[in-house]
Amino acid sequence: MKKSIIIIGSGYVGTVVGACLAKLGHQVTCVDKDEKKINKLRRGFSPIYEPGLEEIIRANLFQGRLHFTASLPDALKKAEVIFIAVGTPSRTDGSCEMKYVWQVAHEIGRNLEHYAVIIDKSTVPVGTAGKVKKIIAGYKKTEFDVVSNPEFQREGSSIKDFLTPDRIVIGADSPRAKKIIGEVYDKIKAPKLFMDTASAEMVKYAANAFLTTKISYINEIANICERVGADVDVVAEGVGMDRRIGYSFMKAGLGWGGSCFPKDVKALHNLAFSDGYDFKLLKSVILVNQQQRELVADKVKRMLGQKFKGKTVTVLGLAFKNNTDDVRESPAIDIIKILQKSKIKIQAYDPIATENAKKVLNHKVKYFSDPYKAASGADALMIATEWAEFCDLNWKRIKKLMKAPKVVDGRNLLERAEMEGLGFEYVGVGK
Ligand code: UGA
Repeated sequence: MKKSIIIIGSGYVGTVVGACLAKLGHQVTCVDKDEKKINKLRRGFSPIYEPGLEEIIRANLFQGRLHFTASLPDALKKAEVIFIAVGTPSRTDGSCEMKYVWQVAHEIGRNLEHYAVIIDKSTVPVGTAGKVKKIIAGYKKTEFDVVSNPEFQREGSSIKDFLTPDRIVIGADSPRAKKIIGEVYDKIKAPKLFMDTASAEMVKYAANAFLTTKISYINEIANICERVGADVDVVAEGVGMDRRIGYSFMKAGLGWGGSCFPKDVKALHNLAFSDGYDFKLLKSVILVNQQQRELVADKVKRMLGQKFKGKTVTVLGLAFKNNTDDVRESPAIDIIKILQKSKIKIQAYDPIATENAKKVLNHKVKYFSDPYKAASGADALMIATEWAEFCDLNWKRIKKLMKAPKVVDGRNLLERAEMEGLGFEYVGVGK
């Protein structure tokens, strides 16, 4: 059934949720304090890079189902369903910065004058739905319900993940709210799992923590594979074929990054700690992840030889993974910083993340808009993001352009036999 929905926060999650709900036929208004962002969206431009998103925004703007505003009080007037999708970044101690969620809750409390369902979409500590409820109730203006509905989309495949999810997790206490949220998602064919709000909030953390555990685990297996002469990709296939284990998130590499995993894993660890529980497994998962960057940086240095200081390394890929311009907690960025500390010069190329990388790296990095130019004169090259286009590069040409044909493939993207056949010295991860 068609609903009047507002989405507060037009970031990676909010923009996709808003556009997709409009695509499903709802009347959607996206709200963000940043007027520049809103104006861009009104003209049909996405503030983030996400394949297919601009097409959906434009189609739904045209059909009058998608609107953008910087005024939350105006947007609240007709809202039946209110999604909170503002940022919850990590504080220095690893806990979640919740001030944006609390600000929004206060603003809803001050301005909402009719029944609505308020949905926490941001990843938030367990107990947040209860706190949001308390804040809004403090204004005593109207009846309302607060629901927790965590999101499981991945950057780069957000639209598909939103429209065809494995499940929809809904933490709701009232039958009225359950009915409404069921209607919001009635066109999505996926199991709807109803539970209490605290459990729904926990599902999100437990899922992300499990996925990082899987990646850190396979990275440790990769490190052992290197010592015993096994190939981690083949091992992951052999292990993953067991349906109890599965293939996904078994790709060894530079360790996990991005705006979610590092933040959520730290937040869960912190949550456990502040409730008196020492989550030892998760602590190790984090340590292994930090170590993986160091190990790959060591491989680059070893390839350069003892006199690595002053040598030049080309880094292909800056984004934390392919199909995104996001460099938050990107392993590529961390490894560049480690190499720079050892006085290694960096030349870098990424198809779309360069502008974001410039904001977090120092001015000494030389950026190129062409991978071949980036490789010219380099003493070694490292693949740091699994962009498909790197597989299709003319490696014969790259070999001629480099000072020394040496490749550290941090994503196991290329075939060793082919690279060695071309005359490269080639090192992957776990093989
Ligand atoms: C992750 C989760 O996969 C989503 O389900 C979740 O909704 C999202 O966080 C979130 O909490 O908002 P995302 O951060 O977009 O999604 O990216 P992933 O595809 O999960 O990759 C995360 C990191 O793990 C990347 O650095 C990636 O390169 C790395 N990774 C992933 C591996 O090293 N190996 C793998 O096998 C898979």
